Amino acid sequence: MATKTTTKPAAKKAATRTESKRLMAMEERYGAHNYHPLPVVLHKGKGIYVWDVEGKKYFDFLSSYSAVNQGHCHPRIVKALKDQADVLCLTSRAFYNDAFCEYEKYIHEYFGYDKVLPMNTGAEAVETSLKLARRWGVVKKGIPNDKVKIICCEGNFHGRTVTVITMSNDPSSYADYGPLTPGFIRIPYNDTKALEEALNKHGKEVAAFIAEPIQGEAGVFVPDDGYLKKCFDLCHKHNVLFIADEVQTGIARTGKMLCSEHDGIRPDIVVLGKALGGGVLPVSACLADDDIMLNVKPGEHGSTFGGFPLAARVAVEALKVVKREKLVEKAEKMGKIFREEIKKIDSPFIVEVRGRGLLNAIVTKPIKGKTAWDICVKMMENGLLAKPTHDDIIRFAPPLCIKEAELMKAIDIIKNTFEQMSK
Ligand SMILES: Cc1ncc(COP(=O)(O)O)c(C=O)c1O
Repeated sequence: MATKTTTKPAAKKAATRTESKRLMAMEERYGAHNYHPLPVVLHKGKGIYVWDVEGKKYFDFLSSYSAVNQGHCHPRIVKALKDQADVLCLTSRAFYNDAFCEYEKYIHEYFGYDKVLPMNTGAEAVETSLKLARRWGVVKKGIPNDKVKIICCEGNFHGRTVTVITMSNDPSSYADYGPLTPGFIRIPYNDTKALEEALNKHGKEVAAFIAEPIQGEAGVFVPDDGYLKKCFDLCHKHNVLFIADEVQTGIARTGKMLCSEHDGIRPDIVVLGKALGGGVLPVSACLADDDIMLNVKPGEHGSTFGGFPLAARVAVEALKVVKREKLVEKAEKMGKIFREEIKKIDSPFIVEVRGRGLLNAIVTKPIKGKTAWDICVKMMENGLLAKPTHDDIIRFAPPLCIKEAELMKAIDIIKNTFEQMSK
């Protein structure tokens, strides 16, 4: 069996990539084939950088789909994890634990919602928001149990559970997984007329409207200014809850703590995940006020790991780091620079540059059989990791702690890559 070639010079190692190849073959053989990763095997991360097993260094411009907003292995977050790990890791919610109680209070004060309901992954928190909304619809709005509906948007990505994929109109998410969950109405995104019509027609039976403030997986699709506000007002006119899925857009990514703030709204339910775990643990949550949250009674919803002591300490530190390091302001400032500079690139591959804060994308078109995938492979060779979404869109989402000089270096790599592709 080949061992790690740590003593060879980095250049030689990069040229042969024996260890990478061995590990990729292992995954191919023993892992389910539900992902198609770029051919790079990562070993180490620090701040905005990651290193592969041969020691080559890369800018991380995916940040684990915005789960690493605070940067890789943030010392304060890792310390919180380690300190708590020495004391108490898991209790379940059968008992109280001191870390979770403090997290509940902290996140209440941070976002201003009465209550938090803790989960682990983003999809679980989205499921939870749907259950909260359905329960509110039955108990508070008086919708018959078998009639409750939720309105969702075309192009959405809310995760991978059966109920959540029911909302998707992307066959690669929902096809051939058997019967889906009833009770959803799907309308076009960024179309307030469609929402108005759906509410006029079905409003009495609708518990909630769920939307991403920016559609991340759809390719960083930014809706018109005022879209969320108009949707929010329409929902309230019809006594319908507005659920913001901020799993990808929340926690400073778009230049506001919550992306919904760009439209000045306070959603009825906020769904958080990814960066709430500071890039070290899966931590997700629903935030809502008592009128919504307290309709779920003991034993009616839960998760063995939701709110476990490690997650609680990590989430508090992850949120503290965002404020201490002014990541909201940084995302806003660096995002502007990024878009300005990328828009200057003159390449036949580039159709559009779009985004908000440090959640950005280049929409490409294929040329002579070369696609967004090939561009990402070339960027990887040049030392920057990004991944295509929907074949032709490349998302750029570095950790929010990136400094201007580092950003300019990364932009140079992107520029050079597009130049090389055009040759
Ligand atoms: C908006 C949104 N919601 C939910 C999810 C699902 O999160 P997870 O993969 O942690 O289940 C994602 C993941 O990309 C997302 O972008």
